[in-house]
Amino acid sequence: MELSGNYLFADIAKKVQAFKEENPEANVISLGIGDVTQPLCPAVVEALHKAADEMGQTATFRGYGPERGYDFLRNAIVENDYRARGIDIDAEEVFVSDGAKSDTGNFQELLSDECVVAVTDPVYPVYVDSNVMAGRRIVKLPCTAENSFVPGIPGERVDVVYLCYPNNPTGTTLTKDQLKKWVDYALRNDVLIFYDAAYEAFIQSENVPHSIYEIPEARRCAVEFHSFSKTAGFTGVRCGYTIVPKTLNVPLNRLWSRRQCTKFNGTSYLSQRAAEAIYTPEGKKQIRATIAYYMENARLMRETLTGMGFTVYGGTDAPYLWVKTPSLTPAPAPKGEGSSWRFFDWMLHSAHVVCTPGAGFGPSGEGYVRLTAFGTHEATMEALQRIKNKL
Ligand code: MLT
Repeated sequence: MELSGNYLFADIAKKVQAFKEENPEANVISLGIGDVTQPLCPAVVEALHKAADEMGQTATFRGYGPERGYDFLRNAIVENDYRARGIDIDAEEVFVSDGAKSDTGNFQELLSDECVVAVTDPVYPVYVDSNVMAGRRIVKLPCTAENSFVPGIPGERVDVVYLCYPNNPTGTTLTKDQLKKWVDYALRNDVLIFYDAAYEAFIQSENVPHSIYEIPEARRCAVEFHSFSKTAGFTGVRCGYTIVPKTLNVPLNRLWSRRQCTKFNGTSYLSQRAAEAIYTPEGKKQIRATIAYYMENARLMRETLTGMGFTVYGGTDAPYLWVKTPSLTPAPAPKGEGSSWRFFDWMLHSAHVVCTPGAGFGPSGEGYVRLTAFGTHEATMEALQRIKNKL
């Protein structure tokens, strides 16, 4: 498979920039890249101030930190994200990082180039691009309205499967039973699962697992990636973590540690203190309020778009809505581009709203666009109104 010329979001940013230069008076609203708009919560800001003060005193100054992250953060993760859910994870299995994009992109370095990698289609492009750069073969598992966006077990031998739930881009989820099927398959066939749980904090439904380790046997076959970017507005702060169980059938904990020690000098002390603060009682309350704010956007978007006649998926347990593009899209398609890019162009030129074309996430994304609920209420409402007026 060939590497696409540009990274999807860089490509979109370029198109939007060109539009803005040609139309300086246009007030463009972005519901495109999943970047947050609400500020850091007070508990995090306080922790950052305190950490900055510590860095300014000889007695409390910190230089290089431990490669796997400071104990204070790893213990908070273990207690709050796992033990509180009845999941047994050891702090030695937690690797703090500068975010899930780096970890999901870098983790493939531990694989042989011969490994065959399965990804859902549509998919977060980092999994595909990083493996294509390494020359690996990719098998795509279509997720469409017909299979309710639940990927089928690969029909051929694969070594690794990337699963992201709640899903980016479709905003759909897997139930515990559906996820258990994947764990059973992975164990029966010696397959590794790379499970991206970056959006778990947005889950509202009861039977949707927050972690793959809610299925106990997953400790033998799954690595799990987490991000504070969307959970706590850390897209600019940078912090996330990855769980690499010591009980994996392939001994990756030691290997990932070796890789990180060689190529990574740890996440900044400030970011880690900021992340620790989201596990305090005030921090938890504050980030829950921000998540509720975004999920209210998602609810209104779903309701309004459905009312306009769009078919909408996702947006109930995830901050993304997967919207079927209408068949009549006025703007002509740029050469070689299908309806999702055409709808992207129409949205940008007519409504001055940025979405992400589904085709950018893979061939099964054609015919859809992704909208994020990460805007401000005001901008989101304004964007919906403009779409309604222009349709
Ligand atoms: C997205 O829009 O898919 C995400 O913001 C990208 C990311 O988290 O890297």
